[in-house]
Amino acid sequence: MTAVVGPNGAGKSTLLKAIAGLIRPAAGRVLLNGSDVTGLAPEKLIREGIAYVPQAHNVFPTLTVRENLEVGGYTRAAGLRDRIEFITTMFPDLGAAMKRPARTLSGGQRNMLAMARGLMVDPAVLLLDEPSTGLSPRFIATVWEHIRAVCRSGVAVVVVEQNTRQTLAQAAWAYVMALGATRLAGPGPDLLRDEEVVDLYVGRLT
Ligand SMILES: Nc1ncnc2c1ncn2[C@@H]1O[C@H](COP(=O)(O)OP(=O)(O)O)[C@@H](O)[C@H]1O
Ligand SMILES: [Mg+2]
Repeated sequence: MTAVVGPNGAGKSTLLKAIAGLIRPAAGRVLLNGSDVTGLAPEKLIREGIAYVPQAHNVFPTLTVRENLEVGGYTRAAGLRDRIEFITTMFPDLGAAMKRPARTLSGGQRNMLAMARGLMVDPAVLLLDEPSTGLSPRFIATVWEHIRAVCRSGVAVVVVEQNTRQTLAQAAWAYVMALGATRLAGPGPDLLRDEEVVDLYVGRLT
């Protein structure tokens, strides 16, 4: 799990969009398992194994949960049904809501559906933009449980978050961004021990 944290407007979402091929980077390269995939079209990058879950508007509200998952798996040649079954064992809440339109889900369930939809392609890397923003504490905990389960299943997760303390505590590696550039990088828990990081980006525990 790699985290990208930093204040609003730092460029975190822009970074994920550049990795996912939605915008062309002005500089730098995107490497996937050592090969250069910079500038490939988003649909090619999905086939290469990069799945991207946007920060907002990340499900199709009028489609059912199942239809959202089917759309997520559209590049699969076969095994759609099996994959949906596998995903619903990971996300039991979704399994119970397969026929419901996505707009009837709670915010937390919608974010879970967006993550599940991203996983439909069996990606090597899952890019998550603020999966827990705007959710109640109970749902935040559930979202993080699912993110950890995705990591354990062998998927590399890149997670952008503003909830810096919780995110850094769990990240094997983390980048702190500000004003469009990386300010600091290192193991998440180490950054949490860095006084500058805590003062500028995390805030002290009272
Ligand atoms: N490296 C960059 N250089 C110039 N502008 C950038 C860069 N990264 C982001 N921006 C601009 O900054 C604004 C905020 O970026 P965004 O990625 O939405 O921030 P965040 O997700 O961290 O809140 C956007 O208008 C974006 O186009
Ligand atoms: Mg953002």
